[in-house]
Amino acid sequence: MLLLLFLGIAASRCLHDETQKSVSLLRPPLSQLAPDFRSASFTHPGSRDPQPLRIRTCYIRDPVSDGAWDTEGAGRRGVPHALVAARQAARRLQGVLAVPPVQGPLLLSRDPAQYCHAVWGDPDTPNYHRCSLLNPGYKGESCLGVKIPDAHLRGYALWPEQGPPQLVQPDGPGVQNTDFLLYVRIAHTSKCHGEPSIIAYAACCQLDSEDRPLAGTIVYCAQHLASPSLSHSDIITATLHELLHALGFSGQLFKKWRDCPSGPGVPENCSTRPQVTRRDEWGQLLLTTPAVSHSLAKHLGVLGASLGVPLEEEGALSSHWEARLLQGSVMTATFNGARRTRLDPVTLAAFKDSGWYQVNHSAAEELLWGRGSGLEFGLVTTCGAGSSDFFCTGSGLGCHYLHLDKGSCSSDPMLEGCRMYKPLANGSECWKKENGFPPGADNPHGEIYHSQSRCFLANLTSQLLRGDETRRPSQIPHLKEAELTGRCYLHQCTERGAYNVQVEGSPWASCLPGKAIQIPGYHGLLFCPRGRLCQTNEGTNAVTSPPVSLATQDPLFHLSLQLAGPPGHSVGKETLEELTEAVLQALVSRGHTGRCYFHSPSTSTGLVFTVYMWKSSGCHGPSVGMLHRALTLSLQKKPLEVYYGGASFTTEHIKSLVTLDHNSSMTHLGLSMGLCLTLLILVGALGTMAYQRRAILQVAPAAPHHSPELQETRGPVEGIREM
Ligand SMILES: *[C@@H]1O[C@H](CO)[C@@H](O)[C@H](O)[C@H]1NC(C)=O
Ligand SMILES: *[C@@H]1O[C@H](CO)[C@@H](O)[C@H](O)[C@H]1NC(C)=O
Ligand SMILES: *[C@@H]1O[C@H](CO)[C@@H](O)[C@H](O)[C@H]1NC(C)=O
Ligand SMILES: *[C@@H]1O[C@H](CO)[C@@H](O)[C@H](O)[C@H]1NC(C)=O
Repeated sequence: MLLLLFLGIAASRCLHDETQKSVSLLRPPLSQLAPDFRSASFTHPGSRDPQPLRIRTCYIRDPVSDGAWDTEGAGRRGVPHALVAARQAARRLQGVLAVPPVQGPLLLSRDPAQYCHAVWGDPDTPNYHRCSLLNPGYKGESCLGVKIPDAHLRGYALWPEQGPPQLVQPDGPGVQNTDFLLYVRIAHTSKCHGEPSIIAYAACCQLDSEDRPLAGTIVYCAQHLASPSLSHSDIITATLHELLHALGFSGQLFKKWRDCPSGPGVPENCSTRPQVTRRDEWGQLLLTTPAVSHSLAKHLGVLGASLGVPLEEEGALSSHWEARLLQGSVMTATFNGARRTRLDPVTLAAFKDSGWYQVNHSAAEELLWGRGSGLEFGLVTTCGAGSSDFFCTGSGLGCHYLHLDKGSCSSDPMLEGCRMYKPLANGSECWKKENGFPPGADNPHGEIYHSQSRCFLANLTSQLLRGDETRRPSQIPHLKEAELTGRCYLHQCTERGAYNVQVEGSPWASCLPGKAIQIPGYHGLLFCPRGRLCQTNEGTNAVTSPPVSLATQDPLFHLSLQLAGPPGHSVGKETLEELTEAVLQALVSRGHTGRCYFHSPSTSTGLVFTVYMWKSSGCHGPSVGMLHRALTLSLQKKPLEVYYGGASFTTEHIKSLVTLDHNSSMTHLGLSMGLCLTLLILVGALGTMAYQRRAILQVAPAAPHHSPELQETRGPVEGIREM
């Protein structure tokens, strides 16, 4: 599930399916589907009514000793970016997808093939096929490189030949009010290294008893998070794409989709879909479920046609829409930036078809690409024939179909020979003022770069060129090159589908969609696109508004302190974490606040302590801004003193104390992230407890644990032998 960073240049291979394939999907053992659970849903009929999907994001830091990337470098600075983005993408989907809420805390399953070395092999004994011998090398569960905290996991037990089990590890407390757990990891993994264009990748790791994804991991490639070429909305959009993979839009999960005629709240009436994908006679892989087919037919304006939705050619499986047909959808394989990406109706229809979700279709963003273009649209055989103005031929300059950018007519591997106007590598955005001309510079074509400017096909040339007034147009060099090309001019919606346009130095002119107009003071024509601009009722900025609105509230601060120990004293890498903890405690008590303001602390080998500060909800006390000011003053007056490992450390000076809220786009990192981090701190303590219990091997009461779990979750179990 790899999303490729893609701004103007051809895409590289997408590794999505490979990533998901590397993960073994766990389901809860049958014993957890206690009969009383099902009857509970009958006694409280409302309890299974779909509610907004509660996605909890949980940041798991790579171990300090990992050393895979410099913890003070680019990746470290990107951490809050990624955390905020994950949170915002999760919140976005809350208004889109609903599920029957998980009852009680969410607990993930353990893989018996991992913790169990052998099972009882005699079918006549009561504990047949239960774990008889533990795997001494069991290291716990992980999800795409993230170690799942024991607190999020069910416990496990060892079974004697007869009688009750001996509990090795009890159930963790689980995660409250959560339907999906998204682990967040920021790293420079070998996948990131191997495919430098990848922003992030994700996989789903655990399913519930109806096969709905319960947990997954998103890995952000650290080097991109600090890259100026990616805006915060880009990272949110990339996260949304990955999250949608992990929630079920995945070649590996299509075959688990369910047909639930009574809705996802009535699992009794669901069955696994007999067919989700098929290949058509030309070998094109299609997603053929009813809602997506209907949605595509509606989009193309051929209602009633029974279409499957083409998937990108990615091998045996595919997890992306065919780019020729659904360019601009969040679920195509290449990422073209947040502004050019939509959470489109066809993608939402896919989530309805999964049978796991109730979908809020009014949350869909309209897809412009190919709208109303008919059955032939997007075929390799028709795209070069000039049958649709979404495609172009040759290699000229024009406008990207959203008209936000100038573009050059080009192709990429996903377009399979079809060509479209793609944004130029540099300076093609009409909506960016900084792409415009400096004051006083020659602007013969009267272009205006402005947030409300759009790209128009035109060959306008000023009649009033300096010194050229007396010459005939044909003698003026500019006018010889009168070819139509993409130019930036100001636009203003007047009503749905109608707009005015302004060229430098001219008054507003009414643009008639589909017609070419003349502009006073200019030679040549300006073509007014039809069906592309002012398509929503949201007013003039409808086309540019980024798909994710970025409210700004809770700011985010970064606190960095240089520690000084006794002369000659050195701190080993392995003890840095404990030192970090000691400094954090000192900081918390200095601030007279809770730990809930402080997130992902770390200390480098150079003894620079860093911590991010934001106020998680549930955190009582002053605003984070006030706390940060108070701490600054206090630390300037009196350094922190921390005793650790028999030595005393002081904060020598405040290296930096900056808000990361510089562009007002970093926002909201509230409840879920904060609580999850708090929980992880607790986990440390719980882990110790659990370890001691393990040593005693408590004997649990004879629970009705009749679980043929080994067979059920793994089929023919590998790595487990019978005794
Ligand atoms: C489930 O399906 C059965 C048979 O089609 C139907 O009678 C019943 O009403 C359905 N249950 C719900 C809750 O829709
Ligand atoms: C459905 O989506 C619309 C548009 O985003 C939103 O205003 C509305 O609150 C959503 N409904 C629910 C139940 O989340
Ligand atoms: C983009 O153009 C600007 C000015 O024309 C130039 O300074 C910059 O280096 C260019 N960037 C790239 C990536 O080509
Ligand atoms: C502008 O383009 C149109 C259409 O291609 C052409 O007819 C016209 O002569 C051009 N005008 C100028 C001034 O080049």
